[in-house]
Amino acid sequence: MEIQMWREVLIPYQQAVSELELKFESIIIENRKLGKYSPIELVDGRVKRISSILEKAKKKQIPLSRIEEDIEDIAGIRIICQFVEDINTVVELIRSRSDMTIKFEKDYVSNKKDSGYQSYHMIVYYTVHTALGPKRVQAEIQIRTLAMNFWATIEHSLKYKYKHNIPTEIQNRLIKAALAAHNLDQEMSKIRSEIMDAQDNFQFKSSIIADILNSIQNIRIASNNELEIAQIQEEFYKIWETGNLDKLLSFSKQLDIIAERYKAQSL
Ligand code: GTP
Ligand code: MG
Repeated sequence: MEIQMWREVLIPYQQAVSELELKFESIIIENRKLGKYSPIELVDGRVKRISSILEKAKKKQIPLSRIEEDIEDIAGIRIICQFVEDINTVVELIRSRSDMTIKFEKDYVSNKKDSGYQSYHMIVYYTVHTALGPKRVQAEIQIRTLAMNFWATIEHSLKYKYKHNIPTEIQNRLIKAALAAHNLDQEMSKIRSEIMDAQDNFQFKSSIIADILNSIQNIRIASNNELEIAQIQEEFYKIWETGNLDKLLSFSKQLDIIAERYKAQSL
């Protein structure tokens, strides 16, 4: 393949990364809107740089004509989860999708690498529709927890710094750090339900507050009664300061009734 063709070759991969990022981010947004816990915390994507593609091809003795088949991570997506349990949920979700076909999976979560690396990898086929027609590309999806990602990011920078020859002393420390990250994930799993409850509560509370502010706005428009609005606002601040969810909820319902009354009057 000619060097100047590279930019064209990479276009569908850029599109695949953008589309996949958007699709996985939509899962986060949808769950938040519904006030539900999202198994995905963060999504990140990248297209491999041409220099890295060429280096990998050289190292693995891949002829240029086979690069698109044999280098599976030209498009790369990273999905970060809060808990180890979420990784499985995300894996199942990807398996069930009709817009991605799985080529293979590697479970470095159950079978961690000697380096200490943990992550779940899926190589998928994904079709993008370009200006020149449909094209099926491969993408590597790495699914890991925040703790696993923290470790992998640090280790990756060290590998880069030491040009893949990390001194034994630092390597040993990294293995210990990987163990600490693994223990952190296990500890977090034990208090998972408590954390999830707290997060659900937070989502729920934010949506009630949004409803209340919305109703106040509607009442202001409909009533034009500054005194009434001032009283409602004062009442809201009082309840808001208590942080009591039940009180906020009943206040929200009260406002709904007032808003309905104004609506009926205006008809
Ligand atoms: P590659 O030649 O990198 O594709 O390795 P591979 O074909 O044996 O695949 P593997 O699933 O082992 O690794 C794919 C990707 O996972 C790498 O490109 C890294 O992003 C990540 N990875 C694998 N092992 C490690 C590791 O020990 N440390 C870190 N930081 N990342 C790793
Ligand atoms: Mg690979």
